[in-house]
Amino acid sequence: MSSSARDSYYPQKMTSLDEVWHRSFHRLFFRGTRLPLRLILPLLSGKKRPSSHAYILSIRKDMDNLLEQDIHNVKQGYYPKSILDFPLLSYLYALLSSGPLDALRVLSRAKRKDWHDLPPHVHEGDYPDYYLRNFHWQSDGWFSEASAKRYDASVQFLFGGAADIMRRMSLPAVVHSLVKPLPHGDIKILELACGTGSFSAQIQATFPQASLYAIDLSPDYIRYAKKHHKTPGVSFLNANGESLPFKDENFDAVICNNLFHELPHKVRRKVFKEAHRVLKHQAIFSITDSAQLEDNPSIKSSIENFSKDFYEPYHQDYIQDDLGKIFEQCGFRLGESQAYLFSKAIYGLKI
Ligand SMILES: C[S@@+](CC[C@H](N)C(=O)[O-])C[C@H]1O[C@@H](n2cnc3c(N)ncnc32)[C@H](O)[C@@H]1O
Repeated sequence: MSSSARDSYYPQKMTSLDEVWHRSFHRLFFRGTRLPLRLILPLLSGKKRPSSHAYILSIRKDMDNLLEQDIHNVKQGYYPKSILDFPLLSYLYALLSSGPLDALRVLSRAKRKDWHDLPPHVHEGDYPDYYLRNFHWQSDGWFSEASAKRYDASVQFLFGGAADIMRRMSLPAVVHSLVKPLPHGDIKILELACGTGSFSAQIQATFPQASLYAIDLSPDYIRYAKKHHKTPGVSFLNANGESLPFKDENFDAVICNNLFHELPHKVRRKVFKEAHRVLKHQAIFSITDSAQLEDNPSIKSSIENFSKDFYEPYHQDYIQDDLGKIFEQCGFRLGESQAYLFSKAIYGLKI
């Protein structure tokens, strides 16, 4: 039986009002978050990093381009208009309900450089060493539902409301590869390192006829995802990307956002090999992650400073790594790579 994850492209109508609203809201939000961020960053890192006028103009332009691409993608039918919604009130609630007190804990942790401050219930033997850290100095690291509750709102604040838009740039290449009828039944998509599951819901809305499996190494984030995204067709599983609990050649697509900058050099390659193992022949592995040094010269220094301002122990190695080469060494034919604001989208097809 042949089937497809979607019957066809679903070009969506965006009225002029939809477009103006999407652009204006996000431009305003983006600009509005830059000033508080500029005040907070020196407190975290202890270093002043004045932004040049040229840098500010350049990231505003990159944000405008990203928004245009987002609108274009909806009009082309790469994803539905509904996933453009931005739940501002729930982000504000998440930040205000625990944010101010938590911000003080984060600042104090950053000052002490206490990267191993984790909740007492964590059994160190259950996790790889590289994971037993509070990335970004975040309270509880990846080890509590309270951390999961704050995560989406904090990331949106950090990236000026562009976090999901950058993640969505992984989707068009997947649509291209899945829209044609495939010579087998159930279409299966895997999301690696799904975190809170908020983007899993966007993938599911984009491929309503597919079965989506979403895994993450954090049991607490997976518990949170199961509670908050009770969408039929999505299975959330607690698993390690280094050794996936799936048989060979099982998936039609693997999608992964923002994992590789948090993995050491060798582990990064291990996860690529696992993605390759579980993919069917010619199926796609589509990634978005932090931009790398060579992606966008005008934000080079802010990409370099990211690892210093936040606790990101593997980011320095990641930004110099050659993702294209990893794809090829792990058995993929490299597809396109494109920088978007602070991120990049890149994909490969299993040979
Ligand atoms: C920066 S977050 C990204 C989450 C989400 N994909 C996003 O775009 O916001 C990194 C995620 O990777 C997960 N993670 C880290 N190492 C992992 C591994 N080896 N296997 C599976 N998940 C892992 C963490 O638990 C965390 O949820």
